[in-house]
Amino acid sequence: MKIALGSDHAGFPLKKEVIKYLQEKGMKIQDFGTFSEDSCDYPDYALKVAEEVSKKNYDFGILICGTGIGISIAANKVPGIRAALCGDTFSAHACREHNDANILAMGQRVVGVGLALDIVDTFLSAKFQGDRHQKRIDKITGIEKKYNK
Ligand code: RB5
Repeated sequence: MKIALGSDHAGFPLKKEVIKYLQEKGMKIQDFGTFSEDSCDYPDYALKVAEEVSKKNYDFGILICGTGIGISIAANKVPGIRAALCGDTFSAHACREHNDANILAMGQRVVGVGLALDIVDTFLSAKFQGDRHQKRIDKITGIEKKYNK
């Protein structure tokens, strides 16, 4: 499994923990920045990761900012991206099972490292259930098509 990661300065320390964890599990990861705690703008990193995931160069993306809100809003502007902001493990599996989320977003100022790693594990091991949920994903894609002409 190939994972693309990105964060702003406020998510940088948690991103380092997530990267270490995924590497220990033998996953292929690519860090698209930022690479320090110097102030930066979360949409820049949301865009890099979201474009890579939408082109299917990676199986999933993980984005982290202070709250996870800004970086998920920005990622969701890229067609084909379904970024889910999760602060609990129920949401982490439900967003894969029902919403076929392809990016997990988290807030470093919201979740501790232990919970964040559980959320990552849960997200990456859950499977999209298709069926009635596919029809709803198709409707989301229809909304994208309506506004991306
Ligand atoms: C940065 O201070 C903070 O605004 C950002 O990380 C994020 O929380 C925005 O949604």
